[in-house]
Parts: sequence; structure tokens; C-alpha cells
Amino acid sequence: MRLHSQLGHNDQAYTILVRSSLDIQSRVDYGYGVRDKTGDILKQLNVGKNVLLLCQTSLPKQWLAIVHQSLDMQGFKVRLHLLPDGEDAKNLDVLAECWQLMQAEEFTRNDSVVAVGGGAVTDIAGFCASTYLRGINLFLIPTTLLAQVDASVGGKTGINLKAGKNLAGSFYFPRSVIVDPEFLTTLPARDLKSGMGEIVKYAFIEDTIAEATDYKKGPRALHSSLADNFAGGIDASNPALGPLISCCIRMKLAVVIKDPYEKNLRRCLNLGHTLGHAIEKVSKYAVSHGESVSIGTVFAFKLANKIGIVSDKDTAQVETLNNILGLPSEVPGDLDRDELVRVLAFDKKRQGDSIKFVLPEKKLGRVSLDFSITAKELSKYLKQEQA
Ligand SMILES: NC(=O)c1ccc[n+]([C@@H]2O[C@H](COP(=O)([O-])OP(=O)(O)OC[C@H]3O[C@@H](n4cnc5c(N)ncnc54)[C@H](O)[C@@H]3O)[C@@H](O)[C@H]2O)c1
Repeated sequence: MRLHSQLGHNDQAYTILVRSSLDIQSRVDYGYGVRDKTGDILKQLNVGKNVLLLCQTSLPKQWLAIVHQSLDMQGFKVRLHLLPDGEDAKNLDVLAECWQLMQAEEFTRNDSVVAVGGGAVTDIAGFCASTYLRGINLFLIPTTLLAQVDASVGGKTGINLKAGKNLAGSFYFPRSVIVDPEFLTTLPARDLKSGMGEIVKYAFIEDTIAEATDYKKGPRALHSSLADNFAGGIDASNPALGPLISCCIRMKLAVVIKDPYEKNLRRCLNLGHTLGHAIEKVSKYAVSHGESVSIGTVFAFKLANKIGIVSDKDTAQVETLNNILGLPSEVPGDLDRDELVRVLAFDKKRQGDSIKFVLPEKKLGRVSLDFSITAKELSKYLKQEQA
């Protein structure tokens, strides 16, 4: 199936090779219809015959069939394993099942895990590949907007523990991320919007990235072109979507090449995530990752505004952009504030009593990475905000 020409896109296909000083070799294969080349890409990279193919049960069957067929055609021995939907996939039992399957099929280090689906699948697949035999080949085929612009790029993997999200994980780079925007034609509207939550985050860290890396800004700031291009709603047939996905991938790669293990610059990608993760957890994942990040991003601006760093006008602009894109800006009224505070106090990014919080700076598009705040102060602002 090729909707490319029907959709009228003329987005060029490309491959980006990612190499960093730390011996990371990865690539992104982007393009409408590139999913058909999955088998060819694995073959080109000389991997072993065994493939553990991980997929969400809720993914439309046609996408899985195309990837499966492409692997079959190149002679790979595919063991398909369907995973529970959403966050239920990211748990220890599912991980153990995957390890046992690979062990039963006698996978060696040159064999591969291939994940097709949203960020939940790419996250657990990455952790699974990074830990089996201390690391086997990993290929990610993200099928949601959020996974294409963020979750599958950059080598972070993880599963959730009872105490919180992504508490066990690793940094592990896929051999290739195969990004085909045509997958998004079947994505429900809510998931498209959720992906926009991460894209809004990119829009407000664009200058920090452009100043610190090789990423070149376009003629217009991302936040203003977003507001114009998607004012009528988010639609997978919008010709601006492909270039937008590419822009976010390039931004993320630029950051990750500079700081693969999140020692400093990479922390900018966590804008909106401290509160975002707490909202996801306390809502029992009823509020999606992208929605939570968009609420967290507005909260970061409101906090910076209270402290006197960011103007009222810029704070309002972030909320307006969320409104245009149909994203939430407020913590849902029914979420228990005390529970949110408890979760915030255990954030992964805490050091002693304080949490490193990514805070917007005066210039829209720039963030500060070194702002420290205690969980207590953060809670105080949260409660004031929602009073
Ligand atoms: N590793 C990272 O750097 C990173 C970054 C951001 C987010 N994440 C993680 O990503 C996860 C969220 O990812 P997500 O938003 O993709 O959610 P998800 O993986 O739960 O997918 C959302 C839903 O979309 C369905 N779906 C997927 N592709 C589809 C398609 N093409 N058509 C129709 N339905 C489709 C899925 O089956 C699922 O029901 C979270 O666990 C989050 O922590 C990781």
C-alpha cells in the first residue's frame, strides 16, 4: 500500500547516519513507504537471521503485515510476539517473556529485536535488546507521532516499576530507526494530539539547541510555524507534518550526539516532564504522555513567570499554542494534589532534596538546565497554581 502519491507529499526520503565520539553508530531511515524496506535495511547491516518482532495488539494489522512480509522476503526467521496495549507493555513480566522467547529460539548476539508500534513498545523493546546477552541488535519502527519525533530517537529505553515510570532502563542505540509518516494515517486523533505535546516542547527549546549544536533553525521559529500550519487541527494528510517530524528528529539527534548520556544539554528535552511524569502516574496513565508533557510545559512557564523570569505575554503564548493544537494546559481537577506532590518528591532527576528542573528563560525558545528546586517548593507552586 502506498498512500504517498495520493496524499500529495513530496517529502524526500533520506538516511541520517548518527555517529558520536562515544562509538555510537545508529541511523534514521525516513520516508513515505520506507516500512517496505525493513528487511533490506536489516540485511544491509548484516545482522543474524533471528528476529523477535514486537508489536502492540492494537496496532492496525496492515502495518504489522507489511513489516513482517518485508522481513520474510529477505529470509529472516521471525518470531512474532504481541504485547499488551499502552503502558501495560512496559513491565517486568513482559520483559521476562521476551527474554525467554529469545532464549528458547537460541538467539545470538548478532540477532535482532524489531519493534513496531508506539513509544511503549519501542521503550520496552530497547530495554529488552540492551539487556539480552548484554546487547543485541535493535531496530525501531515507530508508528505514532510521539514515537517518531521523540521516543524512538535518542537511545533511551525503559520499563515502569510500581513506584514510577521508566524507573528501570538503559541508554541503548538502535541500529536503525525506520520512520514512515504514512503510519500516522490510521492513528486516532487523540494520539496525534499527544505527539504534538512533545513537539510543543521542541518549539520552546529550539534556541537552546540551535545555540549548542549543529541544528539550524528555519526562517521562522518553530512555535510560530506550528500555530499557523496546524490551526485547522492536526491531520496526518497535512503536508507540513512530514517536514515537522524531520525537524524534530534532527533537533533530537543534534542534542543526543552532543550529550548521549544526559550529562547536561540533553536535559533540555525534559522540559515539561517533571510534572508530566507525575501526572501520568497519578492519573494511572489516563492522561497520555504527550498530554501530560503539554500540561508540564505550561506549568514550567507559569513557574518561571512567578519567579519573574518569563513575561506574562510569553506564558500566555504557550497556553494559546496548546489551545490551538487542542492540548490541555491545566492539571485535571480530579487529580489528587497531595499524591502528585508525593510522586514529584521521588522524581528521577532529584539530587538530595532538590530536583533539577528545566525552566524557560527570558528569551522564548531558550531554557535553563541548572535550576534547582526542592520538592517542597515545587509542591507549593503547584498548589498555588491550582488553587
Ligand atoms: N524513550 C524515550 O526517549 C521516550 C520519549 C518520550 C516518550 N516515551 C514513552 O513513549 C510512551 C508513549 O508512546 P505513545 O504515545 O506512542 O503511546 P503508545 O505506545 O501507548 O501508543 C498509543 C496507542 O496508539 C496505537 N497505535 C500505534 N500506532 C498506531 C497507528 N499507526 N495507527 C493506529 N493506532 C496506533 C497503539 O496501539 C496504542 O494503543 C510512553 O511510555 C513514554 O514514556 C519514551
